[in-house]
Amino acid sequence: MLHKEFIVDGYERTIHIEHEESGLDAFIVIHNTKLGPAIGGIRCHNYSNPEAQLDDTLRLSEGMTLKTAAAGLNHGGGKATINALKIKDRSLAYQILGQAVEELKGSYICAGDVGTTVEDLFKVKDATEYVAGISLESSLPTALGTHTSIKALLKRDGLKTKDQTFTVQGLGKVGKHLVKMLDGKIEAYDPFVADLDGVTHIEESKILQGKFYVPCALGGVLNGFSLASIKSEYVCGSANNMFDNRNDIITAHNMGIKYVPDFITNCGGVVAVALDFKNKNYKSALTTGLTKRINKILDMAEADSIPVQHAAEQLANDRLE
Ligand code: NAI
Repeated sequence: MLHKEFIVDGYERTIHIEHEESGLDAFIVIHNTKLGPAIGGIRCHNYSNPEAQLDDTLRLSEGMTLKTAAAGLNHGGGKATINALKIKDRSLAYQILGQAVEELKGSYICAGDVGTTVEDLFKVKDATEYVAGISLESSLPTALGTHTSIKALLKRDGLKTKDQTFTVQGLGKVGKHLVKMLDGKIEAYDPFVADLDGVTHIEESKILQGKFYVPCALGGVLNGFSLASIKSEYVCGSANNMFDNRNDIITAHNMGIKYVPDFITNCGGVVAVALDFKNKNYKSALTTGLTKRINKILDMAEADSIPVQHAAEQLANDRLE
């Protein structure tokens, strides 16, 4: 195994692992362990070159630091990536990665992510105890966290979910769980799902016309274009990177759109993994615990008249100082 560690400014550890026989070509990045061991999934993806793979690992590990800090976990951010194009022996590749995780002696706890299967994680487990959430279907706790966020947002305005109509974009793994949890009326658009029970399927052009928009598909849903035509008063879904750019945060704030930042709404997966590592259940953390956290963020935003996104980032950064 070729194991090369190098220094990247702003990151604690950056390690490149190559293994000839299995074809493993992986990066492990530990961004920050100030609050506790770094935690983050193993992404297996077709990377066209090592620079793109390293950039992705750095960006994702940093995102995990923000997410874990904002969620109130005593964990930092980390991530591993594997270049799927180079794999020759998949089982061995994941075992070798497990060995590299083991060598970090618990400063990085790995889990599943896009492209990594349950079988892959069991191979990692053959080599290390620092793997969590193997049998966890992360979309379920993610949907639970999003559901809690929606309820908290409405409750502040004295409203109940059962009296609302939710416009859901995306009926994939998270979206499907979420619509089962929501007790209001559901209308939804998904180009590949047109016959889900209990859902009124609508056209794409209507997504931003309802009072409560629930994005559960793509990122960048609040952008210059959508913000110019949106009628929704509330936006709260699981989709990552809700704002296309930093200016959109200000625009949404000035328009009075009510939302919970995506890295809070979709923290359920990492919270569940962190608790699974301690053999604990995630339910109360993602209901009562998360509600308190959301209210704290919304209180901060209101008190300082700042965008909710900025308040959530501030809360996370305060913990990291
Ligand atoms: P998924 O891939 O299972 O489902 C996405 C759904 O969106 C698919 O059914 C697809 O047909 C639909 N879709 C694609 N383009 C669309 C469009 N233009 N309009 C409407 N629907 C469209 O993904 P999953 O796991 O449900 O995730 C949904 C979102 O939540 C993503 O943004 C993801 O990054 C985020 N998320 C998911 C987590 C998880 O545990 N699955 C964890 C954290 C975030």
